[in-house]
Amino acid sequence: PSYEHILTETPKPGVGLITLNRPKALNALSSPLFKELNDALSKYDNDKDIGAIIITGSEKAFAAGADIKEMAPLSFAAAYTDNFIAPWSHLANSIRKPVIAAVSGYALGGGCELALMCDILYCTSNATFGQPEIKLGTIPGAGGSQRLTRAVGKSKAMELILTGKNFSGKEAGEWGVAAQVIDGGKDDLLAAALKTAETIAGYGRVSVIAGKEAVNKSQELSLREGVEYERRLFHSLFGSKDQKIGMTAFAEKKKPEWSNE
Ligand code: HXC
Repeated sequence: PSYEHILTETPKPGVGLITLNRPKALNALSSPLFKELNDALSKYDNDKDIGAIIITGSEKAFAAGADIKEMAPLSFAAAYTDNFIAPWSHLANSIRKPVIAAVSGYALGGGCELALMCDILYCTSNATFGQPEIKLGTIPGAGGSQRLTRAVGKSKAMELILTGKNFSGKEAGEWGVAAQVIDGGKDDLLAAALKTAETIAGYGRVSVIAGKEAVNKSQELSLREGVEYERRLFHSLFGSKDQKIGMTAFAEKKKPEWSNE
């Protein structure tokens, strides 16, 4: 499909790469852009050949936020009746394959929230994260107050959200927001993300989706419920062909050929 605000490609077998591409607005996340992003995410999620998805931006900006010019004139009634921003939940609520955010440059406001929604976050050390909404007379609206708090703890999240001050990619790594911090530019960042995406796409789809589902439950359930949920999922994988294939291959000292069944 041809999109106006994003680029899509398959740079490695099994890996779908989505590049936010609204350079004149530093990839500000307008509603039309998000519609395209959701469409591309669903297509990759439904594509049997794809095992992992990467979302990235440009060297200068992952995304500088929701589109301020689109939001400026919105009324309460319009925002409420149209359920403004609700389509942003598609990624977190409905996409079942792993999504890696590869963040270079600005990830501010909604851009930071989009990165936090992804399953794994990689960034460059000089990336710039922040929730500056307070400076615009508002607050995060796409999960920032919840996901950033879970990632960095209450005190630091309060400080960031109530002062609007930025934090660096290096800090994102130190605080556990980012899984990998790359000293280098966008190319090095993308190479690291592609390597991980290829690794994940090389495993059986059933166990990868189950692994993502289990980790995500840890964000919603009590420890006891979460452990029980995990155990049920684990039990269910004995019904998959790939569990037999994986464990038999180990015993026979062979490389498993996944069936995705
Ligand atoms: C709309 C934006 C934008 C945004 C940048 N632009 N960010 N347009 N929405 N969020 C536009 C600018 O208006 C400008 O357009 C062009 O992109 C280049 O930006 P400059 O400001 O000229 O670039 P620079 O001087 O390099 O500064 C970069 C910047 C700054 C520090 C990132 O652009 C900035 O502060 N942007 C806003 C960041 C922000 O507040 N984000 C949170 C938004 S609120 P023109 O036409 O002038 O060239 C939010 C709410 C989330 O995200 C809640 C719901 C999801």
